[in-house]
Amino acid sequence: MQSTYFDVYAEWQADPEAFWLRAAEALDWSKPVERVFDPDQGAYGRWFVGGETNTCHNCIDRHVKAGRGDQRALIYDSAMNGTKTSFTYDAVLAEVQAIAAVLRNHGVGKGDRVILYMPMVPEAVFSMLACARLGAVHSVVFGGFAAHELAKRIDDSGAKVVISASCGLEPGRIVSYKPLLDHAIDMATAKPDFCLILQRDELHAPLRYEHGDIDFRQAVEVEKVNGTVIDCVPVAATDPLYILYTSGTTGQPKGVVRDNGGHMVALQWTMENLYGVKPGEVFWTASDIGWVVGHSYIVYAPLLAGSTTVLFEGKPVGTPDAGTFWRIVSEYDVKVLFTAPTAFRAIRRDDPDGEYVRHHDLSGLRALFLAGERADPETLKWAETVLKVPVIDHWWQTETGWPMVGNPAGLGLLPFKAGSPTLPMPGYAIDVLDDAGHPVPRGTLGNIVVKLPLPPGCLVSFWNADERFRQSCLEEFPGYYKTADAGLMDDEGYLFVMARTDDIINCAGHRLSTGAMEEVCAMHPDVAECAVVGVADALKGQVPCGFLVLKNRVSRDLGAVEREVIDLVRSEIGPVAAFRTAMVVQRLPKTRFGKILRGTMQKIADGMPWTMPATIDDPGILEEIAEILRQRGYARAAPAVGQDA
Ligand code: COA
Ligand code: AMP
Repeated sequence: MQSTYFDVYAEWQADPEAFWLRAAEALDWSKPVERVFDPDQGAYGRWFVGGETNTCHNCIDRHVKAGRGDQRALIYDSAMNGTKTSFTYDAVLAEVQAIAAVLRNHGVGKGDRVILYMPMVPEAVFSMLACARLGAVHSVVFGGFAAHELAKRIDDSGAKVVISASCGLEPGRIVSYKPLLDHAIDMATAKPDFCLILQRDELHAPLRYEHGDIDFRQAVEVEKVNGTVIDCVPVAATDPLYILYTSGTTGQPKGVVRDNGGHMVALQWTMENLYGVKPGEVFWTASDIGWVVGHSYIVYAPLLAGSTTVLFEGKPVGTPDAGTFWRIVSEYDVKVLFTAPTAFRAIRRDDPDGEYVRHHDLSGLRALFLAGERADPETLKWAETVLKVPVIDHWWQTETGWPMVGNPAGLGLLPFKAGSPTLPMPGYAIDVLDDAGHPVPRGTLGNIVVKLPLPPGCLVSFWNADERFRQSCLEEFPGYYKTADAGLMDDEGYLFVMARTDDIINCAGHRLSTGAMEEVCAMHPDVAECAVVGVADALKGQVPCGFLVLKNRVSRDLGAVEREVIDLVRSEIGPVAAFRTAMVVQRLPKTRFGKILRGTMQKIADGMPWTMPATIDDPGILEEIAEILRQRGYARAAPAVGQDA
C-alpha cells in the first residue's frame, strides 16, 4: 500500500538521517557520504558531509547514461517572439559541455563565481548547468533589476565572469541589457575578467572586445565543432552550487548560499512526493530563473527527476492574451503547473468566465501549485472552478529553497482548508512563537519558526556574511530558524501564513525590500526623510507607496519631486520595484521614541480600521495622511476608529 503523508512524516521524525540517506540513494555520488549530518559544522550543521557529487551530472549525464538521452529535457516557448523549440537530454548535454568548455578555457574553475544576467532563454539554463558542471558558483540576477543592483551582486560575489544577453523582451519594449551591464561593471569595484554576451535577433549589442566581451554564440559554436568534452568536476556535497541574492531589510541584498548535496536530495524528493510528477512527465513552472522558484522548479528539480521542464518567456496575460497558459498546457501536455497567485489574478481579471480555458484540451493537467505570496481564497477557488483540478497552495522562501508546508499530491492529497498551505513537509518541524520565544496556543497569531537543524536543501549561510545570517535568522529564537513570516497553526496542525514580520513586501510574487526603496528615496537631494509601505493591490497583492518629507528650503513643484523620486527608484533598483506612487507629506507619523508608524500608515492606505497609537508623538499627522491618501484616490482611507490604551 502507498505510504501516506502521515507515515512519511513520522518516518522522518523517527530518524531524520536515515530518511535523508534513503532519499540520497536516488542520486549518483562519486564519493559516498561519510556523515549524513554533522551538527558541528556550519551555523546549524551540514548535510552529507564527506560525500562528493556533481549537480550537473545528476541533472543530465545520469539520465543520458540511463537511456533517457532522446527524451525531451527542456521545452522552450517564447510568447514574446514566437520561438518554440525543445532539447533532449542528449542535446542539453552537448550545449552544456560547449558552454563549460568556453568557461574553462577562460580560466573558470571550481569555486569561481559567475553572474548570470539573462532573460528567459535556454542558454540561461544551460549556463547554470555549465557552472555546476565545473564546480563554479552561479548567481543569477533577475533581469528586472537595474545596473546598481547588478553592481552590488557583482561586488558581493566577487564574480569572475558575467554571462548576459543583448536584450530581454517585455511587452511593448525591448530591454537593452548591455548598457545596464556596462554601467554595472563601471560601478563595481570587483571587475569581472570577461563577459559572455548572447546576441538575440531582436537587438544586437555592441561588444566591447577591449574590455573582454565575448560573443556567446560564436564561442560556443567553436567548442561544439571541436566536440570538446568537459567532464563533471566532483565537488563536496557541502560546496556551494549557487548564490541567490534576495531582499533583506536594508539595501544590501542577502546572498543565500545553497550547497550541492542537500539541494539535490531535497529537490529530487519533492518531485514525486510533493508534486506527484514522474520521470518523463512534463512539469511547468511559470516564473523566472531569477527567482528561487525558477532555480528550483524550472531548472534543477525537474531535471534531477528526469522530467521535462518548460521554459516560458512571456506573461500570463497580454502575450497575446489570457489563454497563453492554457495553450502551453495543452500543446506540451503539462501534467503539473506551478506559478504565483498573481498570475491567476491577472488571468481572471482578463477572462473572468474562463472562456479561454474552454478553447484548449487541458485533460492532461493533474494539479496547479501556487506559491510566492499568499494565495487569496477567491483566486484559488476561481482557479479550481475553471481548471477542475486540485489547486495546491504551498509555502516556502528563497532561504529554504523548497516547500516548508504543502499538500503532497504524490502521497495522496490531504483535506484542504481555505487559506492554509496545509501541513509541514518532512524535514520541517514548524512552531509558532510569541515575541519572547514562547509557543503560542493553537489558533493564536505569532512568529513562524522552523526547529533546527534545517533539512537538506535549505540555505547554509549568506555569502561572506555568516554573522549576518546568524543574527538575522538564528539569533532571535534560539534553536529555531526565523522565517520572518507571521501566522497561526490550527488544532490539526494546519498552518496559516498571514504576513511578514519585517519590511519585506510581496509585489506580483516578487520579494521587495521597502527598506531598500527608502534608502533610494533618501538619496534625492530634496528629501529629508521618507517611509515606504506596501499597500494592498488587487492584481499584484501589494505595491510600494512612498511618503516623502522634503527639506525646509525646497520650494519647487512637489509633483516634480515626486516624479523624480519615482524615476530614481526605477533607475537604482529597477522596474521590478513597481514603485509608481510617491507623495509629499508635511511630517511622518512617529512614536515618542522616533519609530515611524509604517504599520498604521499601511492600514490607513488599505482602508483597514486603525486606532490612534497611544505612543504617537503628534496625533494630527495620521489624520493628515489619511486625508492626503483620500485625495490621491485611496478612497477607503478613513479616520481613526479609536485610540490605543
Ligand atoms: N526584465 C526586465 N524588466 C522586467 C522583467 C524582466 N525580467 N520582469 C518584469 N519587468 C518589468 C515589467 O516590464 C514592468 O515594467 P513597467 O513598469 O515598464 O511596466 C515592471 O518590471 C514590473 O513588473 P511586474 O511587477 O511583473 O508587472 P507586470 O505588469 O509586468 O506583470 C504580472 C504583472 C502579474 C503579469 C507578472 O508579474 C507575473 O506574471 N507574475 C507571476 C509570475 C511570477 O513571475 N512570479 C515570480 C515568483 S513565483
Ligand atoms: P521568496 O523568498 O521571494 O520566495 O518570498 C518568500 C516569502 O513570500 C515568504 O516568506 C512569504 O512571506 C511569502 N510566501 C511565499 N509563499 C507563500 C504562501 N504560499 N503563502 C503565503 N505567503 C507566501
